[in-house]
Amino acid sequence: MKNTNKRILVIGGTGMLGKPVAVQLKADGFAVRLLARDPQKARRLLGDGYEIMRGDVEDSETLRTALCGVDGVHISLKGGPTSADFERMDHLATGEIAKTAKEMKVGRVTILSAYAVSADKADTPESRSKFKGEVALKASGVPYTIFRASWFMETLPLFVQGKSISLIGNQPHPLHWVAAEDYARMVSISYQTEAALNKELYIFGPEAYNMGEAMNIYAEHAGLKVATMSTQMLALLGALTFNTEWKGMATLMKHYEKWGEDGSAEEANRLLGEPMVTLNEWCQRTRG
Ligand SMILES: NC(=O)c1ccc[n+]([C@@H]2O[C@H](COP(=O)([O-])OP(=O)(O)OC[C@H]3O[C@@H](n4cnc5c(N)ncnc54)[C@H](OP(=O)(O)O)[C@@H]3O)[C@@H](O)[C@H]2O)c1
Repeated sequence: MKNTNKRILVIGGTGMLGKPVAVQLKADGFAVRLLARDPQKARRLLGDGYEIMRGDVEDSETLRTALCGVDGVHISLKGGPTSADFERMDHLATGEIAKTAKEMKVGRVTILSAYAVSADKADTPESRSKFKGEVALKASGVPYTIFRASWFMETLPLFVQGKSISLIGNQPHPLHWVAAEDYARMVSISYQTEAALNKELYIFGPEAYNMGEAMNIYAEHAGLKVATMSTQMLALLGALTFNTEWKGMATLMKHYEKWGEDGSAEEANRLLGEPMVTLNEWCQRTRG
């Protein structure tokens, strides 16, 4: 099998979007190491065949140990819901990983970022910290690939409560919903070509639907109804109930209500192969 002589560290491999990457890299023959705060959880979620190291990205000693002898590191961390948490993960931890990887001569760092991450769109704690994280990664001098992904199909079930799915805000922009399996395949291919280095690649799925349209498709498959709520109402509910998650969600949805996809997937698709999974296929598979 190809790639067997390369070891990749996945940080965030127990996460919703990090796990598919770890699984794909292993399937493609890479030796995959996971940095996990809870190794038992990682073993339970991923099964055998992974080298699991207990650690925390905020503990520089465990980070160093995990980076020892790897050819690349993939970052799939999640900050929030407070501004300080976004700053710690999306900016500071990313910068620290990149700096340490450079010092330790790791061949490349790949990271999941998002579209609408740029100086002029850094209008929320998350987008600001993600932008600063991207800047720190590039400034570190380590070879990198930044994946600026659109909305993942996997996030749709996260909006379900009881028998309805909540559309928060207007969300008018067409979005190229992408399946995590397509993204994971593209990340793995990026590790097999030098052409993906030092690039920001936009990962957009095969079809565009605004969020309401996508939720309608999902709702039809899942037997749900679509409920709507303004971002202001969610922010108010969050403030009244001291619910930081709701307040954070209102801020996030306001950001995406304002900004649509701002890049082109042409280069990513050419270098890494086009995403193929449609929303209807994904819904059928997930529900079936
Ligand atoms: N939603 C979308 O459509 C979309 C689109 C583009 C980009 N993204 C981005 O994708 C990223 C990943 O999202 P996700 O949903 O996969 O997040 P997630 O499920 O919450 O996973 C986060 C991962 O980070 C790990 N982690 C957290 N703090 C850590 C620490 N201090 N040290 C080591 N590991 C730590 C967690 O490990 P534990 O198991 O220990 O908790 C978990 O594996 C986010 O930055 C998100 O903004 C999402």
